[in-house]
Amino acid sequence: MSSDLPIGVFDSGMGGLTVLAALMERLPDEDMIYLGDTARLPYGTKSPRTVARYAAQAAAKLVEQKIKLLVIACNTASATALDDLRAAWPELPVLGVVEPGARAACAATRNGSIAVIATESTIRNGAYQAAIHKINPQARVAAQACSLFVPLAEEGWMEGPIVEAVARRYLAPVFPAETARTPDGRMPECLVLGCTHFPPLAGALRAILGEEIKIVDSAATTAAAAAEALDGRGLRSGRNLGQGKTRFMTTDDEVRFARIGSLFLGRPLEAGQVELINL
Ligand code: DGL
Repeated sequence: MSSDLPIGVFDSGMGGLTVLAALMERLPDEDMIYLGDTARLPYGTKSPRTVARYAAQAAAKLVEQKIKLLVIACNTASATALDDLRAAWPELPVLGVVEPGARAACAATRNGSIAVIATESTIRNGAYQAAIHKINPQARVAAQACSLFVPLAEEGWMEGPIVEAVARRYLAPVFPAETARTPDGRMPECLVLGCTHFPPLAGALRAILGEEIKIVDSAATTAAAAAEALDGRGLRSGRNLGQGKTRFMTTDDEVRFARIGSLFLGRPLEAGQVELINL
């Protein structure tokens, strides 16, 4: 495998661009191909069988382009299909975002009490709970599906009264009122954003939770894991100029992908930079 090949990254839509942004920052010399399966978003409310099929098709499209590392930037797909994709391409390093997210969560807590919010499918699958317990068997994990955050973020509604009302409702069961805190630290010390669409809502969540509770996501830890995977195999790009190029592919409207995608990527994206593809 050549170190000149790009890194392939896929998500059910634009949310994975938060992971791509972290990869671009951490690995500025690398070329990347990002595939957002916007035509079939959301994955988070679909059955495991359907998510596994979609993930296999997205991964196959990237493998076809010739890549040296595959990053599943979607939590739902990581929770459901990581092992299948590793088995399908045993020569290719494949990383998901769940394990790096679990690592970030465990590093952020002292009392081992962690809250995870994610899509319905990720929570039901129990992948975060299992990944956290693998690192810290004593950890107490409260998990909450927050399906409505996905369309809110897609709509570009990252704050305001509607977001706040929805967030308060979702957070109430995992962060009991101040008076319900117990000395054994049952109140979670950290909130894991276990879905690609949630990082842009972090400000709104922070306003509700206050400064004491740490909010972590898997973008930076996944980028660090990607760097490690490349280094471990001698696959780092030989360039040293920070000039990696990124290709964007989507399965639905390029204009919408660019418009909403800019919010997740944190930099402007033009529709002309986005290729429409079929899976
Ligand atoms: N990308 C998905 C995830 O991280 C969120 C959006 C969806 O449900 O497809 O779980």
